[in-house]
Amino acid sequence: MPAVVIIGAQWGDEGKGKATDLLAEHIDYVVKFNGGNNAGHTVVIGNEKYALHLLPSGILTPGVTPVISNGTVIDLGVLFEEIDALNARGIDTSRLRVSANAHVITPYHVTVDKVTERFLGKRAIGTTGRGIGPTYADKINRVGIRVQDLFDPSILQQKVEAALVQKNSMLSKVYNRAAIKADLVVAELLSYADRVRPMVADTALELHQAIQAGKLVLFEGGQATMLDVDHGTYPFVTSSNSTAGGASTGSGIGPAEFKTVIGIVKAYTTRVGAGPFPTELFDENGEFLRATGHEFGTTTGRPRRCGWYDAPIARYSARINGVTDFVLTKLDVLTGLPEIPVCVAYEVDGKRIDEMPVNQTDFHHAKPIYQNFAGWTEDISKARTFADLPKNAQDYIVALEAMSGARISAIGVGPARDAIIVRHDMLAG
Ligand code: GDP
Ligand code: IMO
Ligand code: MG
Repeated sequence: MPAVVIIGAQWGDEGKGKATDLLAEHIDYVVKFNGGNNAGHTVVIGNEKYALHLLPSGILTPGVTPVISNGTVIDLGVLFEEIDALNARGIDTSRLRVSANAHVITPYHVTVDKVTERFLGKRAIGTTGRGIGPTYADKINRVGIRVQDLFDPSILQQKVEAALVQKNSMLSKVYNRAAIKADLVVAELLSYADRVRPMVADTALELHQAIQAGKLVLFEGGQATMLDVDHGTYPFVTSSNSTAGGASTGSGIGPAEFKTVIGIVKAYTTRVGAGPFPTELFDENGEFLRATGHEFGTTTGRPRRCGWYDAPIARYSARINGVTDFVLTKLDVLTGLPEIPVCVAYEVDGKRIDEMPVNQTDFHHAKPIYQNFAGWTEDISKARTFADLPKNAQDYIVALEAMSGARISAIGVGPARDAIIVRHDMLAG
């Protein structure tokens, strides 16, 4: 079972590091295949808490080789800051491999991200402001800067100048901003070249060889299914493919290698930024989930929007990603609620629908149809087997499993690495 994918099955922040931790002792390689420093992963190991943005959370596992593959966008300043911070805490990052084909986030991408969001006003997407969208836009427009361009200063200069022609015209004429000087951008990018050079590799080839040799390669998705640029709630999405298919195009590993697809779902739902969210709560229950679950963004610190579990979204994610196993996180956060509603279907214009609506407009209007489950008051944070859980918590899990489209193989009961109940060996297939 060499290639395993982990993806977020909701709108992100499901606790994807939990599944990585669970498999840690078996992992040889961990690959970030999409997104950039818009991700925010908080991982708790013993008394230590780590917040990672660009590096995959598997980097915290000793002996693992971390890879940032071609599907990502890299802010090199942030990369080095993150490496330095981890090194200062004794984490070895020396094995890190970076794809020569990954795209580079430059200062002008960050500027364009912030300026366009500001000018969208009420229609803003609520991006993380890290330059993600503009960098992917340049990639698709074929005016992007790749890591390998840093090693050819004259090509880099030409590419930066070409990319700035349109942007500077837009910044100065449309947005009334100062134009950005190509020379300054080039100088900044070149200042990173020597440090990144030894990390740069043909990551597609290395990963292929690792898989051939029977090594376990874990592909760690950033963001989530509902933020995927093709399958999410467009335009309120990120600009990459954060679904399982993105692991293939984003790394250069053929689709047939991916046999295990682990979807991470929270026992409730959260979302950061704008866009439709049918089960969103605006009452004290929403406040309860936010406070108890510490639902504040790792990257931007924004309060996360909170709501009940949405089974049609889980089913949709199971289907779009080919989920073989779900890891359900944060069950402990629900402790103390007398009743736990679960969205089982939607009502759209008076009709019941069991799937994600095809039209975004319908999704904006979709009203959740709830089924209520009895809550529990017992502390479940020490539970390590399914049998340790109170009957009502067991019933909640069994019901979610029946309506979510794949088996629930592990259950998170606290932030710590070992606060997890394993029901099925996900690597055994
Ligand atoms: P990611 O973006 O999917 O990596 O998730 P984040 O790190 O942004 O958010 C998940 C948060 O939930 C982190 O602070 C984790 O430490 C925490 N967490 C993960 N699993 C559990 C769990 O089972 N229970 C509780 N209470 N917290 C958890
Ligand atoms: P992790 O990996 C939650 C959201 C932003 C915004 C939209 C577009 O921690 O789950 P972008 O900056 O990517 O162009 O913003 O996507 N978003 C996330 N929300 N978790 C994330 O990552 C996110 N990455 C981006 O809030 O709505
Ligand atoms: Mg996060």
